[in-house]
Amino acid sequence: EDSDLARFSLWLRQSKFTVVLTGAGMSTESGIPDFRSKDGWWRQIDPQKVATVNALENHYDLFHQFYQFRIRGLEKCQPHRGHYILAEWEENGLIHSIATQNVDGFHQQAGSKQVYELHGSIRKIRCQNCELPADADAFLEGKGCNTCGGKLRPDVVLFGEMLPQYTWNNALHAIQKADLVVVIGTSLQVYPVNQLPAISKGKTVLINAESTDQDQMFDLVVRGKAGEILQQVNEILF
Ligand code: NAD
Ligand code: APR
Repeated sequence: EDSDLARFSLWLRQSKFTVVLTGAGMSTESGIPDFRSKDGWWRQIDPQKVATVNALENHYDLFHQFYQFRIRGLEKCQPHRGHYILAEWEENGLIHSIATQNVDGFHQQAGSKQVYELHGSIRKIRCQNCELPADADAFLEGKGCNTCGGKLRPDVVLFGEMLPQYTWNNALHAIQKADLVVVIGTSLQVYPVNQLPAISKGKTVLINAESTDQDQMFDLVVRGKAGEILQQVNEILF
């Protein structure tokens, strides 16, 4: 309630180095389904069938259909107020960076500069074989790599794949330096990103629509919608 938001606003003001960690819950108010809520992706589709290297290599038609559908769905959506507020907070020095599990690119589209895409980006396409970048249209039209004929895929981290090491290390370093970590819209179910909040030596805040199995380790849990909460906090701050 209000006193929680007042406390959160105070911590934001006092913090010298704030890092924000976001998940799919940050984009549901833009119309993008998350994964594990009641109407999330993994309630309709088994991730093992579409979001794994095995799916890419042995069931390419299903893999392709899933990511083609997600890319097409993204074209009709855009960042919401919460994305823009986070970009404004970076602009006026209130936060240092955003580590995100999201692949939609909405933080950058809303103006955020320092964004660590821990699970890659669905907007970038590369060849699974020769790793050369390819354009999204070639992927959407079901074409193969025009250099080596290999399978095209979005540059996202599939289950069982390594996270981009350079990005991971930068995010880890930022979290270790932070005196405030704000986690927004994630069930904290997926390794290794779900280890980040516990690594923080600073204060931790969780803004989430539902409870998670890590709620009790946060200094403050704000139950609610990312866009709405960020809007309310922004009104307290400015
Ligand atoms: P998992 O244990 O299979 O994956 C964790 C992955 O992180 C492992 O591949 C492991 O090698 C890697 N990892 C562990 N420590 C690391 C480190 N220090 N630096 C870099 N990488 C490290 O767990 P999972 O639940 O199967 O998910 C695997 C990954 O795939 C997760 O990041 C998940 O979010 C991602 N994923 C992405 C999509 C998508 O559509 N973008 C869908 C499903 C899963
Ligand atoms: N505001 C705040 N929280 C929200 C909102 C919202 N508008 N909408 C949903 N949530 C919450 C849900 O209650 C849920 O706890 O966000 C959380 C989303 O959790 P997941 O669906 O598990 O998404 P995420 O944590 O990002 O998943 C991690 O799993 O499949 C992989 O690679 C995929 O990056 C993803 C990773």
